[in-house]
Order: sequence, then structure tokens, then C-alpha cells
Amino acid sequence: MTASATNDTLMEDIVGLCKRRGFIFQSSEIYGGYNGFYDYGPLGVELRNNIKQAWWRDFVQCRDDIEGLDSTIIMHPEIWKASGHVDGFSDPMVDCKESKLRYRADQLFFAPVIVNGETIGYVSIVECIDQQEVAEKAAAEMKRKMAKQGELDTIVLKEYTEAKPEQYELIPSPATGKPGSLTEPREFKLMFETKVGPLADDAATAYLRPETAQGIFANYKNIVDTGRVKIPFGIAQIGKAFRNEITPRNFIFRSREFEQMEIEYFISPSADWKNLHREWIDTCTDWLVSIGLPREGISEDIHPEDKLAFYSQATTDLMFQFPHGEQELWGIACRSDYDLKQHQEHSGKSMTIFDETAKEKYVPHVIEPSLGVDRTLLAVLSAAYTEDEVPNDKGKIEKRILLKFSPKIAPVKAAIFPLLKNKPELVEVAKRLYKKLQRRWNVFYDASGAIGRRYRRQDEIGTPFGITIDFDTIEKDGTVTLRDRDTCEQRRVSEDELIKFLEEQISG
Ligand code: GAP
Repeated sequence: MTASATNDTLMEDIVGLCKRRGFIFQSSEIYGGYNGFYDYGPLGVELRNNIKQAWWRDFVQCRDDIEGLDSTIIMHPEIWKASGHVDGFSDPMVDCKESKLRYRADQLFFAPVIVNGETIGYVSIVECIDQQEVAEKAAAEMKRKMAKQGELDTIVLKEYTEAKPEQYELIPSPATGKPGSLTEPREFKLMFETKVGPLADDAATAYLRPETAQGIFANYKNIVDTGRVKIPFGIAQIGKAFRNEITPRNFIFRSREFEQMEIEYFISPSADWKNLHREWIDTCTDWLVSIGLPREGISEDIHPEDKLAFYSQATTDLMFQFPHGEQELWGIACRSDYDLKQHQEHSGKSMTIFDETAKEKYVPHVIEPSLGVDRTLLAVLSAAYTEDEVPNDKGKIEKRILLKFSPKIAPVKAAIFPLLKNKPELVEVAKRLYKKLQRRWNVFYDASGAIGRRYRRQDEIGTPFGITIDFDTIEKDGTVTLRDRDTCEQRRVSEDELIKFLEEQISG
């Protein structure tokens, strides 16, 4: 018996809005789409750029201890041997022989259904927000169908990776509901391979990078040799990463082509790394709040010591309450000197640095805050998506959809409206103001339709401010109406006040 995941309307609403308003499209849609790949439309690319720019400004330009880098996507294949990715970067995969569907074994759960101490069958479920509840319902249904009397034991879900060989034949496939069609878990390599150069032999095999981090480690020596860095210091990079995910899902949360914003922060081996790790966790949390995520939606997942990678001293993930449940948004790991030492050994180049303060030479340790751009964008969209009720032009209460983006990252910062499009004197002033603001920010001009409808269109794409040019503007004092997206409140401001206000809200 199989339990299916529940449908989440918030995710559906977000996906629908993203397509309708030109934020995000399924890649290759005219050919039926391509699973795990997404394209960003006009509004999506603005939002994405604003997130990246905010991160770059706050972590690179506003810090004296962090330098920027932009390394290539395809690098010397030896880098991926040194980093351990060629041998170890894989996920456990399981196939359903009947439906030909493929699952990640660590995202597939099963439990025996036990009535009065007797196992009457198994339930299986693909990881979802309410998996316990769904599994319990499926178990109760199995008991009812098999007409078993007595007490149903508590359902204890386990990862399919923990299944014993004798259980493989008994666990049902989530696709067919029939036991025995799932294979045992086997490792599936996540790196995309390609060939470099004219000879397509094995020696030409190269990889699309699965993380930007190794580009940083590979350039660490260049930056130490050419920059004026001193310990502690960081190297930051934003760029594409590629993983042949077994089950890309939940929209842009887990895709096969995505972008990362990563920092490798190099510290002395004798530094108080626990304290520095804590500082990074706090800094990262504050940054997420600064771009509009609610603090109460963010939590910390501390990886237990026995689950840490062998080179890791500690890892804490910042989790976010996504529409499909609480999931990892930002991984903050203490990676010791593992990567640099590996590259030192494989390349034969020294990765030591001379610490001027301590007067000693060593291979530094590293703290790595690693954040996905697309995941941040999904978090921002989920936090911003709101439905409320407001009066329309005639005073009638109507439902509206709005995106409460922070002005800092909103794709369109303000919309400029002449009250009437057939009054050249209003249009002229509105267009002049539009051209003036356009030199500094991404703003939008809209003259068509009733003013209320024009406001609604902007609310739905998260434009924080509406600026209306009306008869008072041209006949009285030159002031314009400034409307707030969230409260719908309107006030009159002069052009100077308007620009000062926008500056504070967008860049402040
Ligand atoms: N260098 C460390 C590293 O790459 P990771 O936990 O595998 O660590 C870091 O990835 C971050 O990259 C994640 O927290 C997530 O935000 C993002 N990320 C990872 N895989 C992703 C995927 N398939 N799709 C979208 N974002 C992903």
C-alpha cells in the first residue's frame, strides 16, 4: 500500500504566478520542458540579479577581509579527484523496475505495519511535509482492507537506505503500490561529464563543476600571492553549479543547473573556530532577514557529530520554512584544512601562508558559508506571497495577490502612472519623471487602464511604490501621489522628497 504526498497550494500559487507574470519558466517548454532546468524571465532575472548584488555588496564590497573571484565552470579534472568528488560525490538511488521511476533512497521512507505484534505489510512514501500523518493513514487503510483486528503499532518511518536486504522484496514501490519492484540502493554519480578537445577519449573527460568552492581553493594561492590578504580572510564567488540530481523537485528548490554564492573564509588552525563558526551563522541569518525573510521562518540544523563528513569539524544548516516544508537554505561548514591539503598533495604546490601576526607558516583551516541563489529566490518568493482584501476604485472589497518584496531586492522599484493617458500634460510630466528615475533604478511606466487595476498589476509583481501624476501635480504644487504597496496608503510628496525616500528604501 502506498501513501502519496499531499498537494501544497502555496507552491502551486507561486509556480502559477511566476509563469503568469514572467518570473520563471520551465526550460525548453516548447519541447515539452526539461526536468530540473528553469529559465528566468524578465522579472525573474531582475530579482535574481538583485539578490546576487545584495550578497556581493554586503559580503565582498562592504568587507575589507573578503575578496571576489570568478573562476571557470570547467576546470582541470584533477581538481575533482583531489576534492574527492570523482570518487565520492554520489547519492543513493533506487529504481522501480515496473514504473521505471527513480527515487533517491535517502528521500524514500518505509515502515512495517504491525498489528498486535504481527507485521501485516509495509508502507512506503516519498519524503513530504506531512509524511508521518500520510503513512499512518495508509497503514490504517491497510489494516482495514485486510480486516485485521487489534492495536496498530506506532508507525516508525525509516530511510530506504536503512532497509535490510530481506525487506527489499516486501516494501511497496510508491509508484505502483506493489511490493518487490524496488531495486536495492546503489550509488549514482552526480557530476555531469563532458569531453574537452578534439579527441573524445577517456583522457578528455572533464566535469561541469558541482560547486563553486573548488574554484576558490584552486585559486587560493593566486590570491595569496597577488593580493594583500592576511589571515583571517575570505574569497567569495557567485556562479553556476551543475548536479545530475536523481529527483529534481519542488520547483527551483532542487534543480540540475543552479547558482551558488559561496565564501571560503580562511582562518588560523589555532583560531577559536567554534566562535567564528557561530559568528558566521549569525551574520548569515541577519543577511537573510535584511533581504526580507522573516526571522521566525529561519532555524538552525546542527549536523550530529556521527553524521559529519570525515574532514568536517562542524556543520550547521540554516533552514527555511519553504512551502514544501522546512529545508536547507544555507550550509555553513567548518571544513578544516582538508581541501587545501588535498590540492597541495595533488598539485605539488604549497598551500601554506605566512601569518604575520603569529609569525608562523601553516595551511589555513576554512569556514564555508554556501548559499544557493535559486533557493534564496524561492525563499524570498514564499515569504513575499500574500493574499489580502482591499477596496477597488469603486470602494468594493476585492481579493488581491501581492508580493511583499523588500524594496532592496524588488525587481521593479516603482511604477509611474499618469492619472489619465489622454491628457498630454499629465503624460508629459509622468514620462519626464519616469526617464529621470530610470537612470537610477528599474522603474515601470504604465498609462493604460483604471488606476486601481494598474496598482493591482504592480502589487502582483511586488513593486513597492506607485507614483501617480494627477491634476494637483500640474496645476498646484508639483507634488505626486506616493502609494505604499502593502498598506495601500497614499500621501503627497515633492519630487525631492520622493527621490530621497526611494534612495533610503532601496539602498539604505
Ligand atoms: N560547497 C559546499 C556545497 O556545495 P551543498 O550543501 O551541497 O554544499 C550548498 O550546497 C547550497 O547550494 C545549498 O545549501 C543550497 O542552497 C544550494 N544547492 C545545493 N544543491 C542544489 C540544487 N540541486 N538545486 C538548487 N540549489 C542547490
